[in-house]
Amino acid sequence: MELKVEPKSKLQGQVKVPGDKSISHRAVMLGSLAEGQTEVKGFLTGEDCLSTVRAFEQLGVKIEGVGEERMIIHGCGLNGLTEPDNVLDLGNSGTTTRLMLGMLAGQDFYSVVTGDDSLRGRPMARVTDPVSQMGGQFKGRDDANLLPITVVGGQNLKSLTYQSPVASAQVKSSILLAGLYAKGVTKVVEPAKSRDHTERMLEYFGADITVDGLTVSVTGKPKLKGKKVIVPGDISSAAFIMVAGLITDDSRIVLENVGLNPTRAGVITALEKMDANLELINEREVNGEPIADVVVKSSQLQATTIEGDLIPLLIDEIPILAVAATQAEGKTIIKDAEELRVKETDRIAAMVKELRKLGVEVTERKDGLEIVGPQEIKGGVNCLSYHDHRVAMSLAIAGLIAEQPLKIEEADCINISFPGFKQLLTDL
Ligand code: S3P
Repeated sequence: MELKVEPKSKLQGQVKVPGDKSISHRAVMLGSLAEGQTEVKGFLTGEDCLSTVRAFEQLGVKIEGVGEERMIIHGCGLNGLTEPDNVLDLGNSGTTTRLMLGMLAGQDFYSVVTGDDSLRGRPMARVTDPVSQMGGQFKGRDDANLLPITVVGGQNLKSLTYQSPVASAQVKSSILLAGLYAKGVTKVVEPAKSRDHTERMLEYFGADITVDGLTVSVTGKPKLKGKKVIVPGDISSAAFIMVAGLITDDSRIVLENVGLNPTRAGVITALEKMDANLELINEREVNGEPIADVVVKSSQLQATTIEGDLIPLLIDEIPILAVAATQAEGKTIIKDAEELRVKETDRIAAMVKELRKLGVEVTERKDGLEIVGPQEIKGGVNCLSYHDHRVAMSLAIAGLIAEQPLKIEEADCINISFPGFKQLLTDL
C-alpha cells in the first residue's frame, strides 16, 4: 500500500490511540503463564501483538475474542504450555521473539522460532547469551544470534545475576521470564532504566519482584494468577499525533487515555524541553500503570539536546522527534542512540536519507543525528518506509507540513503498531 499525504493545518478533535504494544504483548504472555482467566481490555490488534497471540495459541493456549473489546486468555499455568507442532513464525516482532526465547528456554519441549526478513537480521545473542548462562540451550546461525533459532527445552535453569551492557527492556524481560523457571532469585542490572512493564505486570500477577535502582530481581517458580488488564493508549503511537498537532498551524488535539509510565514518557520530557504547548489532564492509574489525557496545541518549538539516560525512555519516538526537530529553532542534537541502528530497520540511516529526500539538511552521527531548524519540508517525492512502521508514520507526519504532497511506499507496515493511523488523522 502507498500512503499519500497532503499538507494540512487545523488538526482538531479528541481522539484515542490504540492500546500499548508493550503491555499488550505482556498481557498475552503472562495471561498464558498464569492460572485461571485473564481478561484484557484495549488490546492492540496490531500485527506484532497478533504474532504473540498466534504463538501462544500454537503453544496450546486458548484465547477468545481477540480484539480491543474483551479478550479472554485461558491461562495454562507456568508449566502448562505444550510443544508446538510447527515453527513459531513471529513476523516482524522483536519483542515477541526476545521475550519468548527466554520463556521457551524454561519449557519442557523443543521449539523453533523464526520471523520476517527484518527480524531474521536482528541480533538475538543479547538474549541467547545470558539465557545460555542460565542453562538455556539455543542453536542458530552466527552462534544463536540470528533466527531461525532452535530452543532445546527441558533444561533445569539456574538463576543468574546479569549485568546487561544495554538498557533494553527486551533483554531484561527475556531474562526475567527465564528466571521464572529457575530456582532462586534472578537479577538483571541495567546501565540505565528501560521500560518496566514486565516487572510491573509480573508483580500484578503475583510474582515476587523487587526493584532497587537499576536492579530488578525475580524469585523463580512463582504461582501467577490470572488478572484483569486494561491496556492504556500507546504513548509511542500518541507521539505521532502529538507532533502532528504541535507542528501544524491552528491545531488543538486531545489524546485520551495515554499511558504515561515514567519509563516510557521521555517524549513528553523532550517535547517540554522544546517548549511544546502540551498539557496532561485527568491523571489516574490503571492496573499499576499511570495514564492521563494529553492536550497539544500548535507551538513554536525550540531546539534541544536529547541524550544519555533519557534515550531509553523515548527510544521508539526518536524518528518522530527528528521530524519535530526540523521545525524547532536552533540545533537539535540526538545522541547516545546507537540502539536505533538495530531496530526494525536502521532508523538513523532511514530517517537521514528520507528527510534529505524531502529537502531537509541533516547531519548523521554514529549514535544519532543533528538538525538545525526551522527548515522547509519540500515534499513532492516518493519516500520509502524500509518496512518500518515508525519510519513510515514519521514521514507521514512530515508530509502534513510539506509544500507538496508526498507518498510513502510500502506503508502497510503501519499496521504493525497503529491500525487506524490514516483514519485517525483524517478524522482530525
Ligand atoms: C520494547 C522494548 C524496546 C522498544 C520496542 C518494545 C518492549 O526495545 O524499542 O519497540 O516492549 O520491551 P529494546 O528493549 O530493544 O530497547
